[in-house]
Amino acid sequence: MEEAGLQTWVDQMGNVHGRAKGKNESEKALLIGSHLDTVIDAGIFDGALGIISAISALKVLHISRELEKLKRPIEVIAFSDEEGVRFQSTFLGSAAISGVLPVSALQMPDKSGVTVQNVLKDNSIEISGEGLFALKYDPESIWGYVEAHIEQGPVLESAGLPLGIVKGIAGQTRLKVTVRGSQGHAGTVPMSMRQDSMAAAAELIVLLESLCKHPDNFLSLDGQCERSMMESLTGSLVCTVGEISCWPSASNVIPGETTFTIDIRAMDDLGRQAIIYELSNRMHQICDRRSVSCVIERKHEANAVGCDNGLSSQLKSAALSAMKRISGEVVEDAPVLMSGAGHDAMAMSHLTKVGMIFVRCRGGVSHSPAEHVSNDDVWAAGLAILSFLESQL
Ligand code: GLV
Ligand code: MN
Ligand code: MN
Repeated sequence: MEEAGLQTWVDQMGNVHGRAKGKNESEKALLIGSHLDTVIDAGIFDGALGIISAISALKVLHISRELEKLKRPIEVIAFSDEEGVRFQSTFLGSAAISGVLPVSALQMPDKSGVTVQNVLKDNSIEISGEGLFALKYDPESIWGYVEAHIEQGPVLESAGLPLGIVKGIAGQTRLKVTVRGSQGHAGTVPMSMRQDSMAAAAELIVLLESLCKHPDNFLSLDGQCERSMMESLTGSLVCTVGEISCWPSASNVIPGETTFTIDIRAMDDLGRQAIIYELSNRMHQICDRRSVSCVIERKHEANAVGCDNGLSSQLKSAALSAMKRISGEVVEDAPVLMSGAGHDAMAMSHLTKVGMIFVRCRGGVSHSPAEHVSNDDVWAAGLAILSFLESQL
C-alpha cells in the first residue's frame, strides 16, 4: 500500500487501511476492499484478489502522478475476518467499519474458548466497546464501496469472459445444532435401547438436504406471495453441513453429544426464514421421537443485498474497457450474476451503496487449494478497477 502512495494504518479490528487523499480531502470517500483471511485448506485468490487489484490500480495512478488528481479520497481496506471460520460470525472487519458489529462480538469464543478480544490483545491490539463504536465510519463521509472478487462459480468460464458484474448477494444464516443423547458402550447397548446422538444428527442432516432440494414438498403454498417466494427459493436455496464433531469420538463408544453447523442461503429472505422455521419444527420432532435433546443456535444472519444500479453500470463500463484493453476486441456486454457466496459488500451495504465485479476462475472451484485465476484474468481485474478509478479523476 505504501508503494502505491497510500497513507496506511491498522485499526483495532485488525483491518489494514491505505488511503489516498485525492484533490479534496473533505469530499466523500470511495472505499475499495475485500478480505485478508481465508478458509481452512483454501486457495490464494478468495479475498486477496480484490485487495491486490485495488492496490495495483492505485499504484499505476501513483506512478503516473495522477493519485493527487482524484476528485475524492480513495481508501483500500483489507478486512481482517470475513469468512467466520474461527468465531462462526462472519464479516467481523467490515461489520465493525459499517457499525453493525455488536459489542458482544468481542466476547465470542473460538473452539478453545479464546475470545475475539483476547486474540486481538495477543496481537497487540487493545479494543473496548467504545473503541469498537469509534471504528464505525460516518455514512455522510462515504460515497460508495466497490469490491472485486473471484467468482467462485462456473458462469464466467462458460461465458468465455474474464469479468462480470454482480447484481446481488444471497442472504445467509448459520446455525449450530447440538444433539445430546446417551453415551454408552458400543458392544453392550441393544440397538432398540440407544439414544445415539450421531445417528440422530445423521437423520437431521438428511432432512435438511431433502428440505432444501424440494422446499415445495415441505412448505404449504397458499397465496400468490408464497408462490413467488417458492420460485425464488427453488432457484437459489442451498444448504450445507460443513462441520461436525461428536463426543467422546471413539470407535467403541456411542456418541453422547454431536454438534454440527448448518449454512443456509437464498435470495429470498422471507423464504429463508420459512425454511428455518420448518426445519427447526421437524428437527425437534425427530429428536423427540429418538429421545435425544436438540438445541439450535443462530450464529450468523445476513439478509440478501442488492448492488447499486448506478455503481453497477459504472463498473460494467470499466469491465468492458478492461476486456477491450486486454484482447483488443470490443466485448458487447458483460454478464450480470447473482452471488451465492457472502462478501464484505454485504456488511458495507449498511453504510453505503455497494457494487461488485466478479473475476473468472478455473472450473468454478473455490474454498479449495485447486482455486485458480489466470494471470491474464488477475490483470483484467486490476485494469477494471483502474478504469473505474480513472472515471473518478
Ligand atoms: C464466504 O466465502 C462465504 O460465502 O461463506
Ligand atoms: Mn470465502
Ligand atoms: Mn471471499
